[in-house]
Order: sequence, then structure tokens, then C-alpha cells
Amino acid sequence: MAEHNPDGVIATLHNSAEPTQMNLETSTASANGSSRRGKDAKLGLTGVERHFDEDEIIVSKTDPRGRMTYVNDVFLEVSGYTEDELIGQPHSMIRHPEMPRCIFKLLWDTIAGGQELFAYVNNRAKNGDNYWVFAHVTPTFDAAGAIVGYHSSRRCPKREQIAQIAPLYAALLAEEQRHDDRKIGMQSAYQRLLDTLAKKGIGYDEFVFSL
Ligand SMILES: Cc1cc2nc3c(=O)[nH]c(=O)nc-3n(C[C@H](O)[C@H](O)[C@H](O)COP(=O)(O)O)c2cc1C
Repeated sequence: MAEHNPDGVIATLHNSAEPTQMNLETSTASANGSSRRGKDAKLGLTGVERHFDEDEIIVSKTDPRGRMTYVNDVFLEVSGYTEDELIGQPHSMIRHPEMPRCIFKLLWDTIAGGQELFAYVNNRAKNGDNYWVFAHVTPTFDAAGAIVGYHSSRRCPKREQIAQIAPLYAALLAEEQRHDDRKIGMQSAYQRLLDTLAKKGIGYDEFVFSL
């Protein structure tokens, strides 16, 4: 696992003027480095991005409500939490404030409907560092076909993949925050994600694997 200085990886992502593959305008949150750092400090974020090795996988299992029942050592190492702190808790323990809610709606709608989902997720480590994952989340069924829990295995995405997904998520988050009503904001961002994919004529899975 490696850490990168805030003026390196993070600053590069947030200051990127490159157009996104999804053709969404980037958020006004992509401000200059100093206001970025001020905002991060307010949210308890360090601005330091963590990475884990290509051959490492972060694994967790949950009950049907999403409370963690198992976490592996890589999860503990990268997140900075102990097993005792995580078991029995929801994954929102590691939710990063810059993750758009509509992605979690997509996640829950998909897995609660019995399907698997692949998604890029930015997570918050205990000390306020962040780490991106490419997650594969699946439901676990009993013999009668009922969902008895969920399983997630996550690899470390490549820097180019993060560089493409981060501006999209920033735009979706900005859409969510544009509305006073949190639920309306989330629905509006979710619709925007669907519309953008529809315009491109690709499904969500095709999109994540195209990055
Ligand atoms: C198996 C599984 C793995 C999950 N992994 C993450 C994760 O790595 N990071 C995260 O923020 N949310 C993860 N979630 C989604 C959380 O349950 C939750 O929806 C999300 O953190 C948003 O929290 P909030 O709705 O309380 O804001 C996972 C859910 C499941 C079922």
C-alpha cells in the first residue's frame, strides 16, 4: 500500500481540465489547490490518497441489511480500522463525502434485485485519507433463493480509470447538491447518469468496463 502526497495524485485529479469520457461538465468543486485543501480539512479529509497492490483484494461480507459480518486483513490495512470497529457496522463507516448518493442507489437497487454490480467507489480511511476501489458486489442466496447477505471484493483501479470516473462523480455530486431536497437531488443525479448512458447507447456495466 502506498500513500501519495495531496499535491500529487489528488491535486492532479481535481485540477484536471481534461474533458471526461462521459462528456459531463466538471464540478465547480474542481477549484484551485488551496480552496480544495481548506474544504478537505473542514471535512476531516487529509487529501492523501492510498493505494493497494494489484494482487491484493479488499473483501467484506454483510448481512441482508448491509451490516458487515466479515472483513479481510487487506480491508483493515487499507481502511485503518480494526475488525472490532467494523463488524456489525454498515459500510457507510467508510463512505467518502464526495461519493454521489445515486451510485449507492444503483448499487442497492441492483444487488437487492438479485443482480451483481461492478462499481468504482472512493472510500474514506479512518484518518481521513481516501482510497479508490473497483468493487464487485454480489448477493448471496440460500437454498430457497432468498438473499441472505452480500459480498464485495475490490481491486485497486488504475490511475487512468480514476481520472475518468472522478470528474463524472464530481458532476453527479454537484447535481445532487444543487437541490435543497436531498432525495430530489439524488433522483435528479441518478436520472442524469441514466440519460448520459442512454445517449451513449451503452449500459452501466459496459461503461465501467470501458474505462
Ligand atoms: C457488500 C457491500 C459493500 C459495500 N461497500 C461499500 C464501500 O466500499 N463503500 C461505501 O461507501 N459503501 C459501500 N456499500 C454501500 C453502503 O451500504 C451505503 O449504501 C453507502 O455507504 C452510502 O451510505 P448512506 O446511504 O448511509 O449515505 C456497500 C454495500 C454492500 C451491501
